[in-house]
Amino acid sequence: MRVYDLIWKKREGKELTKAEIDFLIAGYAKGEIPDYQMSAWCMAVYFKGMSFEEATALTLAMVNSGRQVDLSRINGTKVDKHSTGGVGDKTSLVLLPAVAAAGIPVAKMSGRGLGHTGGTLDKLESIPGFKTAIDPEQFFRQVEQIGMVLAGQTADLVPADKKLYALRDLTATVESIPLIASSIVSKKLASGADAVVLDVKYGDGAFMNQYQAALELAQTMVEIGNRSGRRFKAVLSSMEQPLGMAIGNSLEVAEAITTLKGNGPADLTELCTVLGGVMLWLAGKADTIDAGSEIISEIIYSGKGLQKFQEFVQAQGGNSLVVDEPDLLPRAKVIKKVIADQEGWVERISCRELGLISMRLGSGRTKLEDVIYPEVGIVINKKVGDYIKAGEVIAEIHALTETAADLATTEIRDCYLLTQQPVAKPELIKAII
Ligand code: URA
Repeated sequence: MRVYDLIWKKREGKELTKAEIDFLIAGYAKGEIPDYQMSAWCMAVYFKGMSFEEATALTLAMVNSGRQVDLSRINGTKVDKHSTGGVGDKTSLVLLPAVAAAGIPVAKMSGRGLGHTGGTLDKLESIPGFKTAIDPEQFFRQVEQIGMVLAGQTADLVPADKKLYALRDLTATVESIPLIASSIVSKKLASGADAVVLDVKYGDGAFMNQYQAALELAQTMVEIGNRSGRRFKAVLSSMEQPLGMAIGNSLEVAEAITTLKGNGPADLTELCTVLGGVMLWLAGKADTIDAGSEIISEIIYSGKGLQKFQEFVQAQGGNSLVVDEPDLLPRAKVIKKVIADQEGWVERISCRELGLISMRLGSGRTKLEDVIYPEVGIVINKKVGDYIKAGEVIAEIHALTETAADLATTEIRDCYLLTQQPVAKPELIKAII
């Protein structure tokens, strides 16, 4: 087999065989195929696409490039969750303890945030003492003892994706549905779960701005997941505005705790209930998604989810007193209110920009090596459809310095587009596929 022929074949829009895809991915992972040939192949895929057969073969070839987590020691159906990322997305912090409290083992690997989107590991690490580097023995012991563990993704899972994603990032080939789908699904398959719910976000603050593209990505991932012998389901949820009110690591942990106490923002609570319903249904603990959602709702309002969160934080070395004393979470030195200078209904919020402002305050990274400050971020006070009176507080900035807070004040005001006509509250969940 010659790499040249495989690039040519894809460039002409023809379908590659499984053997050809295996050859490409194994060769690239071992360093036998140079970056320039792999870049050309990615660009051909970008323009010509891939069939579901090809995308599934690519996904499995990437899974086989590294270690695969074996969760068979854990009894019951293991259900994982993945979000394509957004602003203020602290869903896992609420959802996973609720699902674990329903008796479904949660053995999850999570990632860190990059750019305008946050990462679950960074959020959890804002809890004093919390550790995400878990050795395999503790990983399994913790699931046996409390039904839940969350660890950082190790470097030996799907090394081919790591290499290929970095190459795509430099060669303008990230935005290809089959390449994104195989990249995400390969990591989920290697993490060992029997079933996976994908929270695929669309809108300004999402990786996929357009609903149609997000839908196509969701359909492709579900198809690849199911063809690979696991059960996949996707929920399409809006990221046209931040999820909940808090953006920034310790602020989001505090909001997740409030939500687990049953007093969280309606959108965050709704998303957790629906995703949880799907997870319970996938695990065979509910006959329908709606029935599963009712169980999750009961778990949240009864405080059982909060109790599980507390056990989980304690098991991973964190100070679980944060549940009752949120002041134990890191708190910014400078807290400043953003006051509205106009009035009207909120028509639109620049969600991505809010994420970037929070990142510049120090809550996120532009490069993986950047240091993050857990205490900083933004708490918004107004969402799409709300009325703002002049002089009202739109948001609160948590910053490291007065200068940073002053700069963010104007930027946050600019994120709000007001209109003099009433605006309907947007829907959060558009489809479940
Ligand atoms: N996230 C991933 O993990 N892979 C992609 O290709 C894009 C987003």
